[in-house]
Amino acid sequence: MARFRISVLPGDGIGPEVTREALRVLDAVAERWSHRFDREEDLVGGAAIDRYGTALRQETLERARKADAVLFGAVGGPKWDDPRAPVRPEQALLGLRKGLGLFANLRPVRAHDELLDASPLRAEVVRGTDMLVVRELTGGLYFGRPQRRWRSAVGRQAVDTMRYSEPEILRVAQVAFELARGRRKRVTHVHKANILDTSRLWREVVEEVARGYPDVELDHLLVDACAMHLVRRPASFDVILTENMFGDILTDEASMVAGSMGMLPSASLGRRRSDGTGRGLYEPIHGSAPDITGKSIANPLAMILSTALMLRYSCGLPREAEAVEAAVDSVIARGLRTPDIAAPGQRSVSTPEMGDAVVATLRS
Ligand code: IPM
Ligand code: MG
Repeated sequence: MARFRISVLPGDGIGPEVTREALRVLDAVAERWSHRFDREEDLVGGAAIDRYGTALRQETLERARKADAVLFGAVGGPKWDDPRAPVRPEQALLGLRKGLGLFANLRPVRAHDELLDASPLRAEVVRGTDMLVVRELTGGLYFGRPQRRWRSAVGRQAVDTMRYSEPEILRVAQVAFELARGRRKRVTHVHKANILDTSRLWREVVEEVARGYPDVELDHLLVDACAMHLVRRPASFDVILTENMFGDILTDEASMVAGSMGMLPSASLGRRRSDGTGRGLYEPIHGSAPDITGKSIANPLAMILSTALMLRYSCGLPREAEAVEAAVDSVIARGLRTPDIAAPGQRSVSTPEMGDAVVATLRS
């Protein structure tokens, strides 16, 4: 029996709907293996802006720091969409990533054999895809300074800064190589070294890290070529390692291989303890989906699979994580579909029905 402290931040839109199902799955895990997950729920994103005038309160961040893990739903919506507004829902996510030191973002993309037709790509292209994107999460253009806009004699100007230090590259590269060891032992480093100095530094440091992993094969791929190969030969990738902005863009593209963003979980990790676990933030790849909010049709599986990643990487409970993943595979194999993954004319289930099916499978 183990006891964990979980900070639960459902956020906006469908965030609360999918988080509810993930928590029911967590309850089923607690019951079956006699663990205890103490949960503290709080507002973030637009919901926090409405109530407190800020997307992420200092108290929320402090509490997340004391927790073993954060379960994060989604933030944002048309109500808070003005790009000129001083407070924006996304600040919650960036504040948590930076504030908790979560520098490695893991985004696994797997094509389920039963869902090949849900992808806009042809089934024969998608079949067999099983990749893991490791995206650097606390550096690069997202956090580089200077970042500002100003008025000048030639009109308005703006600047963003892409900056990376050796330790920032080193630590995330190590995560990618470690994870590759437990997989097919291939790392593809994605860069723009023909143009960017930061990419040339990445290349050098990644090669130095690779020397410590002679069993793992390393190759380098230009980011524009990678964008092409992701839709041409997605099944050929194992681990993709890349900087923050490239990773943001490529993971949305990669998600289409799996058919629906509603299937894809993510883990954001910081420094690990010697047993490999550590604090992390777990969230689905999808956003708050205002168009389907309140209709009970959102796919909760990405959030449920994110909870499985939490069990594995923050709680050190791999057996429990595998059981949740197997339960998701089983409901998919039995034909349960939310509308996003249903074939034309196929019957679909609601968000809570999908949650029920996973919970029932875990209990059986
Ligand atoms: C993501 C999202 C975020 C990002 C936004 C919401 C800040 O697109 O997690 O990929 O750009 O990192
Ligand atoms: Mg993104």
